[in-house]
Amino acid sequence: MCGIVGYLGNKPAEYVIIQSLKKLEYRGYDSAGIALLSNGEIIVEKEQGKIVNLENKVFEKGKKYYATVGIGHTRWATHGEPSKVNAHPHSDCNSNIAVVHNGIIENYMELKEYLEKRNHVFTSKTDTEVIPHLIEEKLKYTTDLKVALFEAVKELKGAFALAIIVQGYNNLLIGVRKGSPLIFGIGEGEYFLASDIPAFLEYTNKAIILEDNDIIFIEREKYKIYNNFEEIERNIIEINWSPSQAEKSGYKHFMIKEIMEQPEAISKTFLDKVNFTNNEIIFYEIDNSLVNLIKETNDIAITACGTSWHASLIGRYLMEEIAGVVPEVDYASELRYRKRPITDKTILIAVSQSGETADTLETIRKFKQNGAKIISICNVLGSSIPRESDYTIYTHAGPEISVASTKAFTSQIIIFYLLAIYIGKLKGELSSKEINTFINNLKDLTKKIKRTLLLDEYIKSIAPDFSKFHNFLYLGRGINFPVALEGALKLKEISYIHAEGYPGGEMKHGPLALIDENMPVVVVLPQNSLYEKMIGNLHEVKSRKGITIVLTDENNGDNLENLADVIIRVPTIDKYLQPLLYIIPLQLLSYYIADYKGCDIDQPRNLAKSVTVE
Ligand code: G6P
Repeated sequence: MCGIVGYLGNKPAEYVIIQSLKKLEYRGYDSAGIALLSNGEIIVEKEQGKIVNLENKVFEKGKKYYATVGIGHTRWATHGEPSKVNAHPHSDCNSNIAVVHNGIIENYMELKEYLEKRNHVFTSKTDTEVIPHLIEEKLKYTTDLKVALFEAVKELKGAFALAIIVQGYNNLLIGVRKGSPLIFGIGEGEYFLASDIPAFLEYTNKAIILEDNDIIFIEREKYKIYNNFEEIERNIIEINWSPSQAEKSGYKHFMIKEIMEQPEAISKTFLDKVNFTNNEIIFYEIDNSLVNLIKETNDIAITACGTSWHASLIGRYLMEEIAGVVPEVDYASELRYRKRPITDKTILIAVSQSGETADTLETIRKFKQNGAKIISICNVLGSSIPRESDYTIYTHAGPEISVASTKAFTSQIIIFYLLAIYIGKLKGELSSKEINTFINNLKDLTKKIKRTLLLDEYIKSIAPDFSKFHNFLYLGRGINFPVALEGALKLKEISYIHAEGYPGGEMKHGPLALIDENMPVVVVLPQNSLYEKMIGNLHEVKSRKGITIVLTDENNGDNLENLADVIIRVPTIDKYLQPLLYIIPLQLLSYYIADYKGCDIDQPRNLAKSVTVE
């Protein structure tokens, strides 16, 4: 969590930094700050709360900075409560060095003790503050800033990305990466540092994704990168995202924009992997050695957190039914501590939108150390998880800014669908006829998603009536049970209404006790082999006066009037693709309930989009 930015260029630095921070606000939003090199001095401004508070402060009438170099930070508190004093940037005793930090300095207590003994005075409760003091300490023994910085970095333990400015060095911006993401943007006469690409996309699409143990010294018209303290060259890449993908483009919130983007996001996910002419799935990311391992092993584990975990549960159904393999799925925060046997025949599929989730990353490391091969399914280019995986399949859903994940979820499901067909074929589980059918079913998927999105107005119209309830239940079965879980998660994340997802068959083991006229129950009722069972569950709810919102197929001719208070009909689609359509009304329902309640949809309280701490 936390977003950092740095700027060295020809524009007013405060303006660029604030704009860039706004693009990273999804990473944390409890306080924000900026440090500028202005007329040879470092000026720091900080405010508690959202970036707009900082913006108002920085642009107060009459304030002028004349700065073209600076750093900025938007915070999600780990060490030290959210407050102005704990907000970044942090400085040394003489306010000569300003540092912004994303990550955690694990040995900060030890360092702080050591520095305090050497008369350094700390003002905040953060781990970050040891960094400027440590550099200051090193500068007592050398006049060479580079040497002092290298010496300081050698002593820092943990995961971190830093941007640093130093008084007296008016044309210098420093970046350090170890374990937390840091991207270097290269514009015309200007350079950027940022935790994520959208921060500078408006200014340039040329970038270097810094690697672990990289330190970059950025000056006017030149830069030098060191890895493990040796100078090296890194390739410049061109990002093919358009700046508008990181803007709201007229929508009220990123969340609704991202819900609406799902037809394009999904087609981008599968287009380069599906050859509709000869009905073939191509994973150019997978090499022969992985193909051999897939053929040989049945030891597959899937891991993820949050919404990505729900996509993984759907992935398990697809793998089981299409590919005939039975992967286990576990939360990364659980799997990393389990004593599960891991061998060189184990495949771990790690799923993460951001590619930065700490628990997922640690699970990958554990599996890798024990010889497993890692396939990651990720959305953010160059993030940590792809860098530590043996194989990465990108979802290509475009930047997802809203904290509540939507288009990344559906894109992840598509990757699982394609992987299941691919693995099923490799393992000889599927006939060509079956493969043809699976691939043909994709042909009108985007059209059907677009049609499902037309439910938008209707769902908006029913949302106010449902916004008054304090609890919701979501029911699904089989491949649509994770849809119920994800629907419930969306509602609680953004509207703060308590919601639980349950498999329909489990109702009688507890949740039925909760049903009364104050409990809306959302029932995912597509026509598949579990339809009759779900109808039974619906009766159980209705006979206890529960209020029911029923999602079913457009061509379901059954009379559901007595069982459903609200019926939402989605296009009929093959059973394996149902989650892709059925989740959409649930995303819309939570969005419109939260909007009606006036919630902060894109930045719900206490949450952040990428959770880089345990
Ligand atoms: C956070 C986000 C969720 C996301 C989860 C996993 O909790 O708020 O939207 O699903 O992290 O993130 P990942 O980036 O690993 O998919």
